[in-house]
Order: sequence, then structure tokens, then C-alpha cells
Amino acid sequence: MKKKIALITGVTGQDGSYLSELLLSKNYVVYGLCRRVSYFNRNRIEHLRGNKRFKLVYGDLSDYTSLESIIKLSRPDEIYNLGAQSHVGHSFEIPEYTSEVTGLGSLRILEAMRFLGLKKTKFYQASTSELFGEKQKGINSFNEKSLMVPKSPYGVSKLYSYWITKVYREAYGLFACNGILFNHESPRRGETFVTRKITMFLAKKILGSKDILYLGNLNAKRDWGHAKDYTELQWKILQQSRADDYVIATGKTTSVRDFINECCKYLKIKIIWQGKGVNEKAYILNGKKKDLIIKVDKKYYRPLEIDYLRGNPQKALKKLNYKLKYNLKDLVKDMLDSDIKRFKKSM
Ligand code: NAP
Ligand code: GDD
Repeated sequence: MKKKIALITGVTGQDGSYLSELLLSKNYVVYGLCRRVSYFNRNRIEHLRGNKRFKLVYGDLSDYTSLESIIKLSRPDEIYNLGAQSHVGHSFEIPEYTSEVTGLGSLRILEAMRFLGLKKTKFYQASTSELFGEKQKGINSFNEKSLMVPKSPYGVSKLYSYWITKVYREAYGLFACNGILFNHESPRRGETFVTRKITMFLAKKILGSKDILYLGNLNAKRDWGHAKDYTELQWKILQQSRADDYVIATGKTTSVRDFINECCKYLKIKIIWQGKGVNEKAYILNGKKKDLIIKVDKKYYRPLEIDYLRGNPQKALKKLNYKLKYNLKDLVKDMLDSDIKRFKKSM
């Protein structure tokens, strides 16, 4: 039987690496689009390089010609568009670049599919809970029908990609889907996202570090799931008989402060919080002594913040017939164990 072929943009990222592993385990041939950078950015996929079905190709979401030639070369059955400037905070500093890559990147792929006449190729767009924006009156959790009011250049760029995916589905009959994913984390999470900042810091702390962690808004609430569950759902979305859009979430929401409390509980660290707003601080209790470990730094505040995100994954879990394997406790354990192991090795 002919092996299925997949093309993944963002293959060097958190989701790209887990999805590659999953597809290779299902006997796919996987083409991964890497962009040219001046540093080594392949740590997350290094272990896959020996696999003959795993092929890396250079390209860039801002460069139509490269996308067209990679699609022509690979003739994929499935395209997963995971590539993006994916940092919400930084999108305020580089709004134009974010729009170019995170917004127009999807259009370039869809246009190449149309131009090359790839009517049977399925397309997955990495949409996001950032589309929903701020908490809306009377709404406790967001689903596929909720109002979308993004609050950042990143969110606005993703809204463009979300809609252009729907438009190409309706206008040209392409099998094009949106996975509207809420935050998902893992030991491979980028080091500037808040959960990974926290787990790396606490892992170093229990190994003796004297550093202090500086964070922004501790009150923000996010619906945090595990990237392994969510990449499996990305694949499942493209295995359906009809193209559709799905919210992927856990249905629970936790503040940044409580994520830290959960980590400390797992590590059996006693933590207390004092002060409010920019003056809030966290201390570790060591007998009668208290050691300062966390301070707020305004530089991590965003010009606009989304305080509350909670998804309703009912449709996805039912239609895709899936039960999430990880809860928040499992996620915290997985991330902390992995960071502690890593830092122990380097000591
Ligand atoms: P990530 O770890 O930040 O990975 C982003 C990937 O995009 C990296 O491989 C990066 O390459 C690549 N990329 C950046 N600019 C590019 C360009 N100009 N051309 C081609 N590739 C480029 O993101 P992630 O957490 O895996 O998320 C995957 C996707 O899901 C992203 O689109 C993100 O916006 C979206 N999403 C994520 C979450 C979440 O909570 N993780 C939730 C909803 C949606 P380098 O390695 O070279 O930087
Ligand atoms: N990054 C970061 N760094 N965030 C902080 C910090 C800090 O020091 N302190 C507090 N936060 C708050 C942010 O203000 C935000 O409210 C929350 O922690 C989560 O921030 P991130 O981990 O950066 O994730 P995000 O929610 O902004 O964006 C991620 O999830 C989106 C899905 O909702 C990214 O992965 C996006 O690509 C994704 O679309």
C-alpha cells in the first residue's frame, strides 16, 4: 500500500516534533519545512533524523516560491500548518512580521494547493484560543460558535488564517480545517512561554540555584493541556470524512499563580504569596526563614491582556472519539521531571 505523505510547517517547534513522531509511527513519509536560521534549532527533532521517512526541506512561510516548490516536490496527502511567530507578547513588538508569517503564511499554502490543483490534499490550520479574546459577559467557556475578538497582533493574524481557511474550504471545496487549540505545554515547550519559564526555574531551584524568577500578570487564567494529546487530535481532525473546525481544550482553567502552586505542591516546596499587583512576591519557607523566589516585573505585562481562557471541547472529544490522557497534575509532573533530569545531567 502507498505510504501517506505529510508536510509539516513548524516542524522544529513543540507541536511539529510530537506530530512528526506520531505520523512516523503510523508509517507516513514526513516532510518537515525548516526555515534558515543562524543557530541550531533542531533539538526537538534531532532524534528523528536517522529515519529515512523523515525529510527536512528549507523554506519559509513568508516566501511563496519556496512553499510552492516544496508542495510540488512532496505532493502531500496532508499539510499541517503549524509554523508561526507564535509568541503573543512579542507580536506587539513585531506586528508586521507576525502578520506576514502567522497571517499570510496560511494563504500562501492554500494558494499553492489551489494553483497546483491538489484537490485531494487535506489542510490543517493551527488556530488558537487567542481568537476569542477577553472574557465575554455570560460566557464561561468558548466553543466553535463563540464570538471572536482577538486582542493582539498575533490573535488578529490568526483570525485572518482562520477565516481564509474557511473561505478556501467553501469557495474551492478544499478539505481545509481549523483546530482551535487552547494552550498546550510539554517538556518541549518554548522556554519563553510562562509554564516552561516556571518549570525550568523551579527545577534549577531545587537543585540549589539562588536565582529569582521575574514574571508578568499572575492573575491570567489559561486552559492548559498537554501537547501530546493535542497533536494526536490534530491528526484525527484530518482523518474525518468531512472538513470542519474544532475547539481543543481541557475545559478547566488555572491562573499563572495556581500553576506555580501546583508545581510547588509536586516538589513539596512550601510557598507563600505576599503583596498585590506589581508588588506581589513569592517566598519559599525554610523553617523560620523565608527566601524570596518570585517577583513581578512590569516588562512582562502586555499592552493588552487576555485574562481568562477556558474552552469547551465537547464537540471535538465526541466527534473525534477521544479521551484526554493528561490532566494538569500529569502535565506539571511531566514538565518538572524532565527539566530536573536535564539540569541534573548538566551539573
Ligand atoms: P512553536 O514551538 O513556537 O513553533 C513554531 C514553529 O514555527 C517553529 O518550528 C518555528 O521555526 C516555525 N516558524 C517560525 N517562523 C517561521 C517562518 N517564517 N517560516 C517557517 N516556519 C517558521 O509553536 P508550537 O507551540 O509548536 O505551536 C504550533 C502552532 O500552533 C503555532 O502556529 C502556534 O501559533 C499554534 N498554537 C499553539 C498553541 C500552544 O499553546 N502551543 C495553542 C494554539 C495555537 P524555528 O524553530 O526556526 O523558530
Ligand atoms: N510568556 C510569559 N512570560 N507570559 C507570562 C509571564 C512571563 O513572564 N508572566 C505572566 N504571563 C502570562 C501572560 O501574560 C499570559 O496571560 C499567560 O501568562 C500565558 O502566557 P504564554 O505562556 O506566553 O502563552 P499565551 O497564552 O500568551 O500564548 C500561547 O497560547 C496561545 C493559545 O491560547 C502561545 O502558545 C500561542 O501561540 C497560543 O496561540
